[in-house]
Amino acid sequence: NKKAFIFDLDGVIVDTARYHFLAWQKIANELNIDFTLENNELLKGVSRVRSLDIILELGKVEASQEDKNRWLIQKNEEYLSYLVDMDQSELLPGVLSMLHYLKEKNQPIALGSASKNARPILEKTGIRHYFDVVVDGNDVSNAKPDPEVFLIAAKLLDVSPENAIVFEDSVAGVQAANIGKMTSIGIGEESVLFEAKYIFEDFTHIEESFIESLINKKTN
Ligand code: G6P
Ligand code: MG
Repeated sequence: NKKAFIFDLDGVIVDTARYHFLAWQKIANELNIDFTLENNELLKGVSRVRSLDIILELGKVEASQEDKNRWLIQKNEEYLSYLVDMDQSELLPGVLSMLHYLKEKNQPIALGSASKNARPILEKTGIRHYFDVVVDGNDVSNAKPDPEVFLIAAKLLDVSPENAIVFEDSVAGVQAANIGKMTSIGIGEESVLFEAKYIFEDFTHIEESFIESLINKKTN
C-alpha cells in the first residue's frame, strides 16, 4: 500500500504558535481581555476568524462585524511582522531530517494547515520543495476538527485516508485526523494530545524504524 505523510505547519514544522499567541495577546490586551498561554491551547489549529470569536467569548465582549474585521487585519499584520526575518533556523528540531528521510524513501508528502500564511512560511524556511501537495486555509471551508484539509491532501496524493499519516500539535488537528480515519501522530505533550494514536515530544524522538514500520504496514 502506498502511504502519505501529512504535516500540520504551525507548531509542527515551525514554532509559529508563539507568534500567533503574541499577536492575539496584543489584541486581547487592547480589549482588556485576560488571555493566557493556557487559553491559547484552544486556538491551536483553529482558523483566524474562529480564534477571534473564542477570545471575545473569553472576555464576554460583543463586537460589530466592522470591529471584528479591523481586529482580524490588525492581528495578521502583527503576526506577519514576526515572520519578516524568518529563515531555516526556525524549523523545529528534527523536522528537516524527517522530511529528508521521507523523500529518500520516496514517500508522498503534503502540508495540511489551517493557515492562510502557510506558503510564504514554506518558502522562507526553504522547504517548499519537499511537499508534493500544499493544502492550507485558502483551500478549505471547514476548519479542524473537520477532516476536510487532510482529506483533500490525501485525495490529491491519491492515497486512501487509512493510508495517510498525520503529524499534529493541536487537539483539533488530532481529532480531525482521527475523524478522517487517518493515523494521528501527536507532536507535543501527552497530557494535551492523548487522543492521538502515537505521541512524541518532537521529531528527534521518532526513530527511523518506527517510520519504516508505518510505511510497510498493510491496510485493507
Ligand atoms: C493554524 C494555527 C492557528 C491559526 C490558524 C490560522 O491552525 O495553529 O493558531 O489561527 O492556523 O492561521 P492564519 O495564519 O491564517 O491566521
Ligand atoms: Mg498546529
